[in-house]
Amino acid sequence: MRPIIPDYLAEALRDVEPHTSGEPAGYIPELAAADPERLGAAFAMIDGEVYGAGDIDTEFTIQSISKPFIYALALSDRGFAPVLAKVGVEPSGEAFNEISLESGTGRPLNPMINAGAITVHSLAGVEDLNPRERVERVLHGLSAFAGRRLEMDEAVCASEMEHAHRNLAIAHMLRNHNVLTEDPRAIVDGYTRQCSVLVTTRDLAMMAATLANRGTNPLSGEQVVPEPVVRQVLSVMFSCGMYDAAGDWATQVGIPAKSGVAGGLIGALPGQIGIATFSPRLDGHGNSVRGVSLFERFSSDMGLHVM
Ligand code: DON
Repeated sequence: MRPIIPDYLAEALRDVEPHTSGEPAGYIPELAAADPERLGAAFAMIDGEVYGAGDIDTEFTIQSISKPFIYALALSDRGFAPVLAKVGVEPSGEAFNEISLESGTGRPLNPMINAGAITVHSLAGVEDLNPRERVERVLHGLSAFAGRRLEMDEAVCASEMEHAHRNLAIAHMLRNHNVLTEDPRAIVDGYTRQCSVLVTTRDLAMMAATLANRGTNPLSGEQVVPEPVVRQVLSVMFSCGMYDAAGDWATQVGIPAKSGVAGGLIGALPGQIGIATFSPRLDGHGNSVRGVSLFERFSSDMGLHVM
């Protein structure tokens, strides 16, 4: 039985290789220099078994795929009410880097867009932490989801911070509405560090499997976050994880998912499997072109659509 899954994955990768549309993210210079031909896919079962093909041990930055995990940490550290008071759960229908604040309150529409994720970053930790402690909490939490100690890519972080005018503008708007209560630059710096954590496709599959396994890492056995938190996170991933392509994704793939601009993509099916793909060529929504295509195939071949 075992060799069948890697063979299936290798064939799926061969089939998407001719798709050469899209480009690596251009607005972060270090990401623009990524090898666009990198390609990998991995399945992590909730019993801890991992199957993969292609570049599954190549490291790249997690970027927006960190968002659901830090949302999980904030919900678990603070409880639901304080987090929901600051960040909503409604799809924005707009690009990930639009301001997308609720009129009147200034509350970001959801935690998957940058405005929401910058706010959620400020809520990591059981109590108010200083920026350095908060980044340590984030790194520790992401590592627990992955089941190994993760590190940060300082070069990607510095490169993004040099051009972070848009995220800084969003953070200043959030500060204006008192959604953020600290120095906006320090929060954006911490959020950018969160996005610069290095992972492999294998790590991402295991992180997704921890969500699929209702918050317990299948390898370490650690309960990283409680089950009600996972339900909240997967629901928001389902409705908002693919930004302004969330509706297409829900109908065509039907798996709670999250993408990142370095080319990673994860999906988690409760009680079953964590899936991750990696290919840096992005579409106009900031989602990996080959990743979307691989997930469409996995969903259809294996009947993974939740409906
Ligand atoms: O804040 C940003 O723009 C990046 N650090 C992350 C954006 C991202 O990954 C969007 N997803 N596809």
